[in-house]
Amino acid sequence: MCGIVAYLGKKPAQPILIEGLKRLEYRGYDSAGLGLINGSEIKIIKSSGRISVLEEILGEPDPKEVVGIGHTRWATHGQPNTINAHPHLDYTGKIALAHNGIIENYSTLKTWLISKGCTFKSETDTEVIANLIGYLYSNTDGKDCPKDDQNRFEWAVQHALNELVGTYGLAIICADFPEMLIGAKKGSPLILGLGKNEYVIASDAAAIVEHTTQVIYLSDNEMVTITPQGFHTKTIDNVEIHKELKQIEFSLNAIELDGFKHYMLKEIYEQPKALGMCLGGRLDLRDNRVVLGGIGKYWREFTRSKRIIINACGTAWHAGLIGEFLIEQLARINAETQYASEFRYRNPIIEDDTVVIAISQSGETADTLAAVEQARERGAITLGIVNVVGSTIARTTDAGVYLRVGPEIGVASTKAFTAQVAVLAMLGIELGRRRHLSAEQVRCYIQELSRIPSKIEDVLTLSDHIKKIAEATCDRENWLFLGRGFNYPVALEGALKLKEISYIHAEGLPAAEMKHGPIALITKGMPAVFIATKCSQYDKIIGNIEEVRARGGRTIVVANKGDDNIRPYADFLIEVPEVLEEFQPMVTVVPLQILAYHAAVLRGHDVDKPRNLAKSVTVE
Ligand code: F6R
Repeated sequence: MCGIVAYLGKKPAQPILIEGLKRLEYRGYDSAGLGLINGSEIKIIKSSGRISVLEEILGEPDPKEVVGIGHTRWATHGQPNTINAHPHLDYTGKIALAHNGIIENYSTLKTWLISKGCTFKSETDTEVIANLIGYLYSNTDGKDCPKDDQNRFEWAVQHALNELVGTYGLAIICADFPEMLIGAKKGSPLILGLGKNEYVIASDAAAIVEHTTQVIYLSDNEMVTITPQGFHTKTIDNVEIHKELKQIEFSLNAIELDGFKHYMLKEIYEQPKALGMCLGGRLDLRDNRVVLGGIGKYWREFTRSKRIIINACGTAWHAGLIGEFLIEQLARINAETQYASEFRYRNPIIEDDTVVIAISQSGETADTLAAVEQARERGAITLGIVNVVGSTIARTTDAGVYLRVGPEIGVASTKAFTAQVAVLAMLGIELGRRRHLSAEQVRCYIQELSRIPSKIEDVLTLSDHIKKIAEATCDRENWLFLGRGFNYPVALEGALKLKEISYIHAEGLPAAEMKHGPIALITKGMPAVFIATKCSQYDKIIGNIEEVRARGGRTIVVANKGDDNIRPYADFLIEVPEVLEEFQPMVTVVPLQILAYHAAVLRGHDVDKPRNLAKSVTVE
């Protein structure tokens, strides 16, 4: 949430910052701003609304402005207006910063700063950081701060950061040091890109890859000070640290729209290829096993564990629920899925043989990260299923498996979901192989999994048909999504996709639960989406469809190709290829993603930037 980009180099900073902000806009889009160093002054330009609005008020880039910071906001404290937009200047006008995160003790600090004569313009927690740095920088009398000005600025930043409770990714400039840029991180991501005679700091590699693929991932409580002469990394307690250079593993192409109208659509269509990358080299048909190098030495504990707790949020939680079923079914280990936001505040029982899995596309979701930390403190082995390489959850967990599906930019998660399920399927198979599955069963599962990308390819050809269904139904404001067994989490995911981008109210349920209350909602013509592929509960779900039809509901049924038996039950039929019951969610979710996409477009919404949402929820 919120995107930060900062530049120090030889080129005019303005266009680089704007381009970077556009690449980060999926992280927040309610206001945006730039801070540029011009001589010994800081120029701030900001506005509410999207980056395109900010662009309209920008003048021509000034070639002298080669250092600057930029921000695209998802509001936490204070309305999304121009005053609250970042960057924020301190009360002396010398310090400017862009912030991603939340300062929990901002109110106490604000009261103290006001008592010291600092003035505030905005309602944000961020302005407190700017003023605290500004106050410390300008009031060093009697303090043990360095004598030279440059170190005094760094010192003031360090001392301010040590007073903050909460999270931050920060880019900071000071008018007295027109050739200096400071970045700092705690709880929100921050990456330093090292180009040729230029540096880019950003919340996400997407804003860096155009300039360089060499990066340093800052860890919590670390900061970097950059000048044209080079950079140095320290902890916020002033201890020098050496950081390893890493390589960004995706190309610029991966974050372009590539002819698609929206990132979400591109990512839906990418799924066969993305799953191919996720499964590639991991399904060893020759030796009849699954190879997941990231688990390494933890396979032993994992195989012997008595209880697996899966933590995640949103769509990743739905994938987790499928993972729970897969691990139970294939490996016969007790598994349960928890909302990370709840788990972190409970008093969970973690025993020696408990393994905790965290699933997160971004690897930065605050609640999921906190759940991992909580589990680690209690002695659990933690495993991350993460997409973003080098992200905080990937680095915090003991072991892990990357999704390898490339950047996911659409706010509504699609390809990450199918890959999360694929990774959980691989884990289930390999755990099962190590515990009790026969060689024949393992072969059958591995072969079936390897066929999923081509089955998804088949589903993608249905887009026009699904669009027609959306046209006939998307005027309805209340929907139900129902499934059983492995398709029950798919029902939840279908409902979430529809509500988050089309703003239609939708409820996902295990189909049999409908009778225990929600059936009262059914009125004439209400769309009810059933996922009724051939599975152990097929007959039962037919019964549920009848219950809805008897009450006037209009059924959209996802069923297997050639299943003529189901035709009379469907007002609209979506036929998908048959796959093993355990792996059906990767196929049955795809038509629901497409349905949600078309419904949202038909209702005139910006699919990639849904109202009130942002990708990567780094606040709790
Ligand atoms: C919905 C969606 C969210 C995320 C959730 C967790 O389409 O994208 O529900 O799944 O915010 O995000 P990650 O996976 O980054 O932890």
